[in-house]
Amino acid sequence: MRKILIAGNWKMNGSTAANEVLVSGIVAGVPEGDGFSLLVCPSFPYLASVAGMVAGSKVALGAQNVSEHASGAFTGETAPSMLKDVGCEFVIVGHSERRAIYGETSADVAAKFQAAQAAGITPILCVGETLEEREAGATEKVIDEQLDAVLDAAGADSFAAAVIAYEPVWAIGTGMTASPEQAQDVHKHIRARLATHNAELAEKVQILYGGSMKGENAPGLLCMPDIDGGLIGGASLKASDFLAIAEAAAQN
Ligand code: PGA
Repeated sequence: MRKILIAGNWKMNGSTAANEVLVSGIVAGVPEGDGFSLLVCPSFPYLASVAGMVAGSKVALGAQNVSEHASGAFTGETAPSMLKDVGCEFVIVGHSERRAIYGETSADVAAKFQAAQAAGITPILCVGETLEEREAGATEKVIDEQLDAVLDAAGADSFAAAVIAYEPVWAIGTGMTASPEQAQDVHKHIRARLATHNAELAEKVQILYGGSMKGENAPGLLCMPDIDGGLIGGASLKASDFLAIAEAAAQN
């Protein structure tokens, strides 16, 4: 049985005071059960302080981006070893906002994926199509290109220490969620593609859904056979909203 992972991607939101309220609320309200785990991904300046807030709780810490380089003259960048140093266990790579706004290519994302793993951090690899691509019938082609870049660079076995997040771009921050069936179709496709390389591993990889997931739609999504959790943006910024999704995971 794959464990469910509920991950909060705070994006560029938060402050010392707001994080305190959010994290203490989450930590105090973690539902009973061990079939799921929780993760929060704050912005870089808050990683160390949030590490302190989640210490000893069931909530893990992750970052939203990472450099593909180990150290050196890369002004403004953050090395994977630095994330590890402050207590990160996970890092999101290839979020569609990084791809679309900052021009990250699938090759860049693959390099970040490998750099994170080399530092002992689990990458959460985001893949997903735009509305235009979906309407053109290109969803699987787009996902395959994004996935294959990492498979080619890092090898299929690298997915033993990675998480995948399917995030249809048209569903991110729009309130438009993929239906459980639409998401399941793509999750199944991703798992099948991995299975062509390593069937045993493909069965074990967690594939999260991201895109306007909230307490109300989480139960329907999480009960699909290939959906193993959520990467949550908007609904991760309020403890009660995030905990409603955690509750759905606990009951699944
Ligand atoms: P959303 O964001 O939940 O606000 O749609 C998801 C994400 O971008 O990871």
